[in-house]
Amino acid sequence: MPTPWKPDSWRALPIQQVPDYPDMAELAAVEGRLATYPPLVFAGEARKLKKQLAKVAAGEAFLLQGGDCAESFAEHGADNIRDFFRVFLQMAVVLTYAAAQPVVKVGRIAGQFAKPRSKPTETINGIELPAYRGDIVNGTEFTAEARIPDPKRQEMAYRQSAATLNLLRAFAQGGYANLDNVHQWMLGFVNGSPQGSRYQMLADRISEALAFMRACGISPDSVPDMRTTDFYTSHEALLLGYEQALTRVDSTSGDWYATSGHMIWIGDRTRQPDHAHIEFCRGVKNPIGLKCGPSLAPDELIRLIDTLNPTNEPGRLTLIARFGADKVGDHLPALVRAVKREGRSVVWSCDPMHGNTITLNSYKTRPFDRILKEVEAFFEVHRAEGTHAGGIHVEMTGRDVTECTGGAVAISGEQLSDRYHTHCDPRLNADQALELAFLVAENLKKERDGKEPVQYAIAGE
Ligand code: PEP
Ligand code: CO
Repeated sequence: MPTPWKPDSWRALPIQQVPDYPDMAELAAVEGRLATYPPLVFAGEARKLKKQLAKVAAGEAFLLQGGDCAESFAEHGADNIRDFFRVFLQMAVVLTYAAAQPVVKVGRIAGQFAKPRSKPTETINGIELPAYRGDIVNGTEFTAEARIPDPKRQEMAYRQSAATLNLLRAFAQGGYANLDNVHQWMLGFVNGSPQGSRYQMLADRISEALAFMRACGISPDSVPDMRTTDFYTSHEALLLGYEQALTRVDSTSGDWYATSGHMIWIGDRTRQPDHAHIEFCRGVKNPIGLKCGPSLAPDELIRLIDTLNPTNEPGRLTLIARFGADKVGDHLPALVRAVKREGRSVVWSCDPMHGNTITLNSYKTRPFDRILKEVEAFFEVHRAEGTHAGGIHVEMTGRDVTECTGGAVAISGEQLSDRYHTHCDPRLNADQALELAFLVAENLKKERDGKEPVQYAIAGE
């Protein structure tokens, strides 16, 4: 029998990736204040997302999850949020069209601030300082002062999340996401690119279909669902003091929910079965993501599923595979088979970013062809196992950055320095994100064609 869960029961367990706060009294004071602030999301929204993810688990929908590796305080502008939202909607349209299924939209946004690090310190020119752990913990500048964990940053992250969420809700519900705007979501610099033309063609077809439906009396004016979209937020639940402070009892169900975002996930570095992060996440009722990297064995995965989803509730758990293009075939089939054999309901999603990071010209980058290859391999495994390739999880931005090499508008190793803006891992730019969406779309079409062979009734038979 597991011990009783409480929002702070994680505090008694071993924990990884904890910032070294010099002033624990100040940390406690900040957490105390956060606990009095309004929740960022409502439990009912998290439940609605879980229902939609249950459809993904059943093979009836697809999950698109993406956004910054790390949000930053310095780049908190409306243009950034709008450009991200635009390219995200474009990707969603491409995928919806191909899959002929709903696409569940979850941003890595409005709370994605805390970063796990491979090493606790960073050394430049012989100077060793604590590693940057995300704007919610310390600053990126390479100075001793900036790298001191500062609890006050948690309140700044909370307020930024609230403002970001406010704008996203306005975009999603206030008319911007209206399908009639499918042409307007095009970003200026994508316009002339090959992906831009592909998108343009698709948008034309959608506009035509909308015109036909309008003639039949169905339009965004008459069907509210065509005017708005459901957009959800997610982040890695790494900084557990912050998460605990925002964990509240839902008055309708009496259950505990993390109200820092709709979905939270557990990183590949903090998924030890008896440790704090698993303990915290098992007790909140939100949809939970679990990163699955090469060191995860099938029996350990089943044990983690037992802990995180003991009632086998569909939509509760999303397994986010992140192996690296060359390792998918070695690891994913055994995990998929174990889950299937044990009859567990999960969403299988593919993060093609975190297993494909290399260093080139002193920049951390990801070759775009490796990203595509990992996605291809992920779909192949699911086709072979007869399971649903349920989603993708990507680091992306709406901006014209040069952080991942390759793509149709090929970014070379030399060009990385042109517009390398990320605070943490390299992201897909808008053009690369759209190209990836088209590749996923092709795979979804294959899955659809394989599942539903068109049956023509022949007269007389
Ligand atoms: C991340 O998603 O930014 C991340 C750190 O991933 P992982 O835990 O898979 O390494
Ligand atoms: Co990352």
